[in-house]
Amino acid sequence: MLPTIEWKGDAVAMIDQRKLPAAEVYVTCRTAAEVARAIKSMVIRGAPAIGVAAAMGIALGMKRSRATGTKQCAAEFQKACDLMAATRPTAVNLFWAIERMKRTFADAAQAGASVTEIAQRLEAEALRIHDEDVASCRAMGGYGATLVPESATILTHCNAGALATAGYGTALGVIRAAVEQGKRIAVLADETRPFLQGARLTAWELVKDGIDTTVITDNMAAAMMRQGGVDLVVVGADRIAANGDVANKIGTYGVAVLAREHGIPFYVAAPLSTIDLATPDGSRIPIEERDAREVTHVGSARLTPGGARVRNPAFDVTPAKYVTAIVTERGIARPPYEESLAALVAGPAAPESSAPRGPAYVRRAGPA
Ligand code: MRU
Repeated sequence: MLPTIEWKGDAVAMIDQRKLPAAEVYVTCRTAAEVARAIKSMVIRGAPAIGVAAAMGIALGMKRSRATGTKQCAAEFQKACDLMAATRPTAVNLFWAIERMKRTFADAAQAGASVTEIAQRLEAEALRIHDEDVASCRAMGGYGATLVPESATILTHCNAGALATAGYGTALGVIRAAVEQGKRIAVLADETRPFLQGARLTAWELVKDGIDTTVITDNMAAAMMRQGGVDLVVVGADRIAANGDVANKIGTYGVAVLAREHGIPFYVAAPLSTIDLATPDGSRIPIEERDAREVTHVGSARLTPGGARVRNPAFDVTPAKYVTAIVTERGIARPPYEESLAALVAGPAAPESSAPRGPAYVRRAGPA
């Protein structure tokens, strides 16, 4: 895979996801403001990837700082954090990454670090967030693959792949791990209107990896399921509330309801940084409304008549009752999610035997 995002020392390079699959070109950001613009305009997208980008953007801003004292440095740091926080509201990974950078700054400042040392610590933290994300995706893939039969057709929505993370992917990480284990996997990729993450990005990644991929328009999923053509669904997430409600790309909710109707397991793969225990349920998750032009146009071609109103909510919320299991880098959570997610977030110290209602929290996952 081509790298999604790379730290270049004095810049951050990102593959331009607006241009894929037609062109494989990189955008180079040299300031925190340029990184923020890249996130907002979807040069880079996907919950974990925008968290990594925000962290690198903040680190970049501080590396280029001309601040002469810690007070000026703190003001510039806060400005860089605010810039990143104002880009996209739904994916909690963005705010999680900003918080990590804030903690790093506070620790460094408290230790009396110089402006240069603070910048060095922030750079190291951003690189750690990047590397941890790849490791998380690999671990998630390992757990998730245990849910996949020897031979399966898997439907996915949007792009939760290497492009949406620092590498390997969440939902596509599960698929990649299953393929690496020798399972016979075919993927149905929903095209994912209006931004076409499925048709453009998921298909591009999977075809590059030689994985059997069929693109379908979003309105084909129901018929495919009814005909018995889907064995399981796996998607990523932008924010998972404490009760297991899942915000993900618009259209995910419909896929989940369809899966339930047809008796098909509906899995969500997401790192712990996507779980937001401070948000009790999905009704509290802010849903980004994007520019109408994404709906009215494909490229430069206008689809809709002038005068028609347009809505463009970028995400929806799938109620927890439709989610069969949530795969994380620390294990697999099953309902009731209030308990299983809290136990996973609490960390490795929580022994399986102390997990509430045993099967809700499965550290070593068995087959579905
Ligand atoms: O608007 P996007 O493309 O950033 O939305 C991305 C998604 O909804 C993904 O499914 C989600 O971020 C999970 S990515 C591992």
